[in-house]
Amino acid sequence: MSEAANWVRVASVKDVQEGSAFPVEIMGLQLAIYHLEGGALHCTDNVCTHAFALLTDGWLEGTLIECPLHAGQFDVCTGKGQGAPIEEDLKTFAVKLEGDDILVALPA
Ligand code: FES
Repeated sequence: MSEAANWVRVASVKDVQEGSAFPVEIMGLQLAIYHLEGGALHCTDNVCTHAFALLTDGWLEGTLIECPLHAGQFDVCTGKGQGAPIEEDLKTFAVKLEGDDILVALPA
C-alpha cells in the first residue's frame, strides 16, 4: 500500500539554478529545494537538526549542504548527517518535475 501524498507545486525549475539551493515556505514547513549539477532535484527540511539555521544560507557542494552556523553537513539526497556536530538526519521529501514545475510530496 502506498502512502498518500499531496503533490504541491513549490517553484519553477527556472528559479533554481543548477548547483544551488532555494528556500520554500509552504503549509507551515520550511523546505530546501536543491538543484544539483546535472539537473537532479532533491528536497529536505531547511532547518538544521543541530540548532537553528537555514541550510539554504549555507553552501552546496556536490550533494552535500554545509550549515552556515557550525559547518555541519548533510547529504541532500538522503538527508543523512555527515558527522559531528550533527546527530540527527534531515527529513527528506520526494520531488518531481512536471514541465517547469517542481512538485514536492507533502504529508497528506
Ligand atoms: S546549527 Fe547547523 S551545524 Fe549547528
